[in-house]
Amino acid sequence: MAFKKSDGLFIALIVVILTIFILISGEEKTSRVPNDEIHARFYPIIREQGKKAGEKFCGECHNEKQIPFPKDHPPKFRCLFCHKLKGN
Ligand code: HEC
Ligand code: HEC
Repeated sequence: MAFKKSDGLFIALIVVILTIFILISGEEKTSRVPNDEIHARFYPIIREQGKKAGEKFCGECHNEKQIPFPKDHPPKFRCLFCHKLKGN
């Protein structure tokens, strides 16, 4: 069976839909970013410059050496899609 261009598009579409599905399903039950002395400084960055700007900092502490993720943690490419700020 030849691999057609439309097959690639179809697979890409499925991947996109699955990703959105995972993000949405993670959103509701996921713990929020604490508004404590560690995390409070990210709140204005995230509110004013957006999620991507804030996420750059998460990995400084949340990595396997310092604060390992729970074993069953889902793919962690965009923290703030799942971990919402408090009070939003
Ligand atoms: C300076 C180090 C540091 C940075 C940077 C950092 N964190 Fe944390 N984070 C911690 C520590 C320490 C804890 C555990 C204690 C606490 O709850 O504050 C924690 C806990 C958490 C928790 C778990 C809260 C809970 O309910 O158990 C989440 C979610 C989290 N951080 C998300 C983030 C996100 C998203 C970012 C990036 C915007 C981030 N953190 C940046 C140190 C950091
Ligand atoms: C696809 C959704 C998703 C993404 C993206 C994501 N997480 Fe999580 N995270 C979860 C879920 C689900 C849990 C387990 C349930 C919980 O504790 O909220 C979790 C748990 C955690 C915990 C432990 C919380 C606790 O209560 O012990 C920390 C810390 C954390 N994530 C930080 C991060 C950081 C930092 C990033 C970005 C590098 C990130 N997460 C990206 C969904 C996500």
